[in-house]
This record gives sequence, C-alpha cells and structure tokens, in this order.
Amino acid sequence: MLAIIGGSGLTQLAYLNVTHREVVRTPYGEPSGILNFGRIGCRDVVFIARHGHGHTIPPHLVNYRANVWSLARAAHAEGIVSVASVGGIRSDLKPGVVVVPHQILDYTWGRKHTYEEGGDTQVAHVDFTEPYDATLRQGLLAAATDAGELVVDGAVYATTQGPRLETAAEINCIERDGGDIVGMTGMPEASLARELDVPYAAICVVANWCAGRHDSANGIRFDAIEGLLQDTHARVRRIIEHFCVA
Ligand code: HPA
Repeated sequence: MLAIIGGSGLTQLAYLNVTHREVVRTPYGEPSGILNFGRIGCRDVVFIARHGHGHTIPPHLVNYRANVWSLARAAHAEGIVSVASVGGIRSDLKPGVVVVPHQILDYTWGRKHTYEEGGDTQVAHVDFTEPYDATLRQGLLAAATDAGELVVDGAVYATTQGPRLETAAEINCIERDGGDIVGMTGMPEASLARELDVPYAAICVVANWCAGRHDSANGIRFDAIEGLLQDTHARVRRIIEHFCVA
C-alpha cells in the first residue's frame, strides 16, 4: 500500500480508480478528510487531501499527526509520497519545475509536531539526519526518467508557518540558511512519518518565484498560477503512474 498526500493543486487523484472510501478516527483527532483507497497500475494506493477536499484547512491547522497516523497505522501504508506546491529560491528552480527535495529546514511553530506526549513510555529521539527515505526518493526519480519527465534531484525544502507568504528579507534569510524551495507543509509531516517508521518522500511542484525574486516583484498571485499548476500536476501524475507500475 502506497499513500499519497495531495497538497494545493491536488485535492483529488482523478486517475485513482477508487474502490472504497473510509472515514478514519485516530487517537490524535480527525484527519483532513476521508481516505480514498484504490489502485494505480498494479499498486494499492490510499490518497488523502492535505487541506481537505474543498481546500479549506490552512497549513498551520492541518492535523498532521492524524493524517500520518491514519495512513501509517489505519491504512498500513508502507510508504508515503507527499505532493506539494512550493516557491522557488534557487535559480534553476523556476515555476513549472518538479523537484524531489533531499533536505529540510523547519521554521514552523506551534504545530503538534510529535507523537511523544510524555507519560510512562521512554522518550525516543528519532534519527532525522536524512529526512527523506532514500529508496522512495530514488524510486520517484527513476519513475520520472521512465516517464520521460525532467525532475530536479535534490533541494533543501524550507518549511514556513504560513498561511501568509514570506517577506523578501525572510527569503534572503532562508537562502543564507541554505533553503532552495519554500513551502508550508513539509514539517512536521516528514518527521511524524519518521517517528512512525514509515518511509516518506516528497515530490514538489514549483508554483512561483519566492518573494522578492524575479517576476515576484509585483507580488505573488496564487490565482495567476493555477494554469501552470494544472500542467505541472499532469506531469506529476505521469511520474506517479510510472512509480506505481515499476
Ligand atoms: N512560500 C511558501 N509556500 C509556498 C510558496 C511560497 O512562495 N509557494 C507555494 N507554497
């Protein structure tokens, strides 16, 4: 079973042949929505829309713990692929590019970011040196090659709190910290998956230049990038389909 968490621009997996849907409750509250089970190619797949079916849940209010738990423990997913939209900082990561990040910076705050809640059990400090699963990453990159889609291998994903976009100075600061792309949902999703010992990787669609960069000088308009997102998600779809038949 492969789990896919869809972000902005991917609230439905139209190419998933849904066999059933399940409402899952978790010890951590309700996930963002119903779990959609089905098949892509020869693989069982479960899909959840990170921001809810109608895209109503902002990044800081997503119940990441419930989402990851429902996929890993209720649906028994053996891997989680996150699909997410990001802003680009690095000069080759321009709008329309698809990138599989290899590292993470976390600027989020106030999110329920761990399953560790104190009590009688001993605290586990999970290793997070390499935040993304190497095999899953390589699988996505190989699927992209099979599909004939150009994908950038490696980027540092900086997670900001949102829902507002960043200031130009914040983007300069994130760049100095080593960030290449910026999104609002990469954490704590990735570290929660690690706590539950489920391989996790992300495939990111660059939707815009980050604040203060290139053509973002007149402000970033999310409505203006919808068309681009549709095209790019069609490419992500082909990559995921190839991943599922591999
Ligand atoms: N910043 C943060 N998150 C984002 C952006 C951005 O520019 N674009 C898409 N998600």
